[in-house]
Order: sequence, then structure tokens, then C-alpha cells
Amino acid sequence: MKLLHLDSSILGDASVSRQLTRGVVDVYRAADPKLEVVYRDLGSEPLPHLSPANLGRDGDPLIEELKSADVLVIGAPMYNFTIASGLKSWIDRVTLAGKTFKYTDKGPVGLVPDRKTWIVATSGGAYGDTPIATMHVGYLKTVLNFIGIRDIEVVRAEGLALPERRDASIAAARGRLQSIAAAGT
Ligand SMILES: Cc1cc2nc3c(=O)[nH]c(=O)nc-3n(C[C@H](O)[C@H](O)[C@H](O)COP(=O)(O)O)c2cc1C
Repeated sequence: MKLLHLDSSILGDASVSRQLTRGVVDVYRAADPKLEVVYRDLGSEPLPHLSPANLGRDGDPLIEELKSADVLVIGAPMYNFTIASGLKSWIDRVTLAGKTFKYTDKGPVGLVPDRKTWIVATSGGAYGDTPIATMHVGYLKTVLNFIGIRDIEVVRAEGLALPERRDASIAAARGRLQSIAAAGT
């Protein structure tokens, strides 16, 4: 089994989303000691932004990497009310007409076969189901749905900048992660 693990936090070892995505990967590794993990650190080693030089490049290896993964694990901290630009650069590279989606007379169709995908979403504030959450997790789910990925589990840790909420929020996210895993990955 192959797992694609993406982190996008710029906070290094202090990052909560990095801790939590590691927790998800550990669940899969425990179930399959031969698990192949492909890791991309989009926070510390960002991909180049879209430019004329790389626009619409056919056969981008990032697309093959995505399509060949059985499981996708995405660390998605909130920066300035949406996902980190490092993660956005990855999205810009893998969302490509004719490769990961196509337009038909019935509307757009995703070309990435569905696979289990985990979004680990962290934020300093707590936004619940407000429009700000839509700009963050909702945006990411929309793009993944667009390219064909619908089997999505979301683990959120909110209120991380609020001292009275931080620890409980991380513990709740860990609990949710474990209960999803116990129900079967
Ligand atoms: C550059 C930057 C921008 C941020 N913008 C927001 C924001 O708009 N809203 C918010 O609630 N938290 C914001 N935060 C707080 C982060 O969401 C919070 O630190 C979270 O833990 C980030 O995930 P991480 O620990 O995995 O990096 C920001 C943090 C940074 C570093």
C-alpha cells in the first residue's frame, strides 16, 4: 500500500498539523508494516508557484505521485483565513485539465480515482461551520471533489491560539483520528 503524506505548516516542530498527520500515518503503518510512504514537505520545501515555465506541463510527476497513492494525508494549517500557499502551489500543479479533470457536456468530471483522503485542518481561531471554515476546509474539499476524490475524513484542531482551548482541541483531534481509524481505514 502506498500513502502520500503532505505537510504544509511553516512552524517546524511546533506545528500541530504535523503532529496530527504523523498520527494518521502511524495508524496505517501499524496496520501495514510494508507501507510505502511518499512524503512532501510543502512548508519547508515549497514547490515553485505556477508560472509560464511550468503551466500545464504534461505528465507532471506530481500528478502521477497523487494518482498512484492509495491513501492521501494532507496537513492543512489555516494561514490568513485559508490553506497555506505551499499547499495551494501543490493544488495548482495537480489540478490540470485532461489529466485530473475534464469538462464534458454534463459538466466537469474528476479523473483521479477516489481514494481515502485525510484532511488535518488546524487554526489559531475557532470557526465552527462559519464561512471562514468554508474558505479553509471547504475550499480544500471542493478542489479534491473536483478532481474526483470524495472519500474524505476531516480532523480539525481549532482554537490553537486560545490557551484555554489549545490542549483540549489537540486531544479531541487525536481522539477523532483514533476513532475513525478504529472504525476501519
Ligand atoms: C502566517 C500565519 C497566518 C495565520 N493565519 C491565521 C488565520 O487567519 N486564522 C487563524 O485562526 N489562525 C491563523 N494562524 C494560526 C495557525 O492557524 C495556527 O498556528 C495553527 O496551529 C497552524 O497549524 P500548524 O501548527 O500546523 O502550523 C496563522 C499562523 C501563521 C503562522
